This record gives sequence, C-alpha cells and structure tokens, in this order.
Amino acid sequence: MSVVKLLVSTLGKATGILTIVVVVLAAVLIYFEDPDPVKYTSMAEDMKTLEENFRQQNKSCFILGASGETGQVVLKELLARNLFSKITLIGRRQLTFEDKAYENLVQEVVDFEKLDDYAAAFQGHDVGYCCLGTTKAKAGTDGFIRVDHDYVMKSAELAKAGGSTQFHLESSRGADKSSSFLYLKVKGQVEAEIEALGFDRYAIYRPGVLLVDRQESRPAEWLARKFFSAFSAVSSTSMAIPVPVVAKAMVSNTLLQPEQKTEILENKDIASLGKSAGK
Ligand SMILES: NC(=O)c1ccc[n+]([C@@H]2O[C@H](COP(=O)([O-])OP(=O)(O)OC[C@H]3O[C@@H](n4cnc5c(N)ncnc54)[C@H](OP(=O)(O)O)[C@@H]3O)[C@@H](O)[C@H]2O)c1
Repeated sequence: MSVVKLLVSTLGKATGILTIVVVVLAAVLIYFEDPDPVKYTSMAEDMKTLEENFRQQNKSCFILGASGETGQVVLKELLARNLFSKITLIGRRQLTFEDKAYENLVQEVVDFEKLDDYAAAFQGHDVGYCCLGTTKAKAGTDGFIRVDHDYVMKSAELAKAGGSTQFHLESSRGADKSSSFLYLKVKGQVEAEIEALGFDRYAIYRPGVLLVDRQESRPAEWLARKFFSAFSAVSSTSMAIPVPVVAKAMVSNTLLQPEQKTEILENKDIASLGKSAGK
C-alpha cells in the first residue's frame, strides 16, 4: 500500500514539475513571438500594387556600403524587385559583378575624406540607402567616428542638397545619443543630426546582431551570432536578425507612407516587415 502511495505521490510531483516546465516554455515562446502576423499578411498583397505604382515613377536611388553584408543584400533585393530606373553605388572602390542583373548599375568611386569634391555623385537621386559602417576594432576610435558619424552625416547632407527626398539609415539596436557606450552614442548622434536635415521621409533601422556568415573575422560578433542563431531556431528574438530580413524591410518600407516624416524601426518592427512584405 505504501509503495502505491509513494508511486502516486512521485507521479504527482513529476506531473506538477512537467506542467510548470511546459507553462514556462510556452510563456517564453509567446513573449518572443512576432506580434500581429495578420496585419503583414495583407500587406504582402498590397505590396504588389505599391511596387507597380512605384516602378512607374522612374525613380533613382543610391546605396552607400553596397560592398558590405547588408548593402549587398539591399542591392540584390532592389534589383530583384526592379523598383528603380537607376541605381548608383557610392563607395570608396569599384566593385565587380559577374551576374547580368548588375550590368546597368552606375558606380561612383569617391574619397570619403573629401566628400565635398564629390557632391555631384549625390545629385539627382530620389532615395538614399546607407549601410555604411566600421568597428572600433577595425578602425580605432577615431576611425570609427569618421566612418559611422562623419562620412554618414556628410553623405546625408549632400544627398539632401542633391534633391533626395527619402533617406534610409541602417543604425543599431540601442542607438542613443546620451549613451555612455561610444558605439551606441555615435549611432544615436548621427540618427538625430540627420533628422535635423529634414528629409521628406527618414527611416532609421535599428537591427540587433546581424545574422550573417561574415568572411571577415569579428570574434565578438561571431560569438553573439552563434548564441542568437541557436536561440532563433526555436523562436524569433528582439536581439538578432538575419541580414536578408533587414534588406527586405528597408526596400519594402520605401514603398510605404507612414504618418511621420521620421520613423524608427526597432529589431522586431524590422523582422515583422521584412518577413511578411514583398515575398
Ligand atoms: N554587425 C552587426 O551585427 C550590426 C548590428 C546592428 C547594426 N549594424 C550596423 O549596420 C551597418 C551595416 O553593417 P554591415 O555589417 O552590413 O556592414 P559591413 O559588412 O561591415 O560593411 C560596411 C560597409 O561600409 C564600408 N566602409 C567601411 N569602412 C569604410 C571606410 N573607411 N571608407 C569607406 N567605406 C567604408 C565598407 O566598404 P568596403 O567594402 O570598401 O570596406 C562596406 O561597404 C553598420 O552601420 C553597422 O554598424 C551592424
């Protein structure tokens, strides 16, 4: 009799523990789930019409950082969706492409230290995409500020002066001009200074860790990527995002008309838009 009692009580405890585990797991998954998928399913349908209308306006754009991990996917996405009649890459070196899809690209090779001398490269584009950036480890503190603030800011100024109405900036999760972390502070400062230029439309994208198989060695980023890749296999997170999702979001968002001139897309907003629109 006592053996049966013991068995029942053990089974009861095990079931209780199992229930708690299941409830906690479900809560975690719900917490990290992307909100409101229905909204974006219908957006995917509208997107086709928006693309068609946009295409007919024969607009042109430029990309800064088209050789980088995000920039190259933004370029690929723009070509695949054929939204612009002219795409210009502005960079510090000439890029070579094998694929025929890239044959009509215009390339402007500039010296970012003397950008005023290259103002013409920024003239006449309707939309600008900025995926420029470096790291402190690669360029040192001064070099990082030069690229992520000075080059980005000057490019935005020249684009505004050259007639661009839209500017899309790839910034970073946690960007904050008051931050005590240099990276986040610089990102926040450049975000705010570009807003003051007064583009008709200014979109700031704040992705978390970019999930990408980067050729270049960046140990800290590699570690973060491994961690978040494993985690995002079971659920999406607000901390990391695959590069193609960022690129899709940047391109799709170009077609939308938000109420505000300036909008900030946090990691989850980018994930929702990038995964659902323009499939
Ligand atoms: N990595 C992440 O996890 C992460 C997360 C959130 C936000 N972000 C931000 O997202 C943006 C894009 O990141 P990514 O990883 O896609 O970029 P990336 O692969 O590092 O590419 C950076 C681009 O900037 C250009 N660039 C770098 N240094 C330059 C310099 N001194 N002069 C001129 N051009 C220069 C590169 O040109 P070359 O090919 O000629 O070097 C390249 O086109 C960056 O602003 C980054 O801070 C990154």
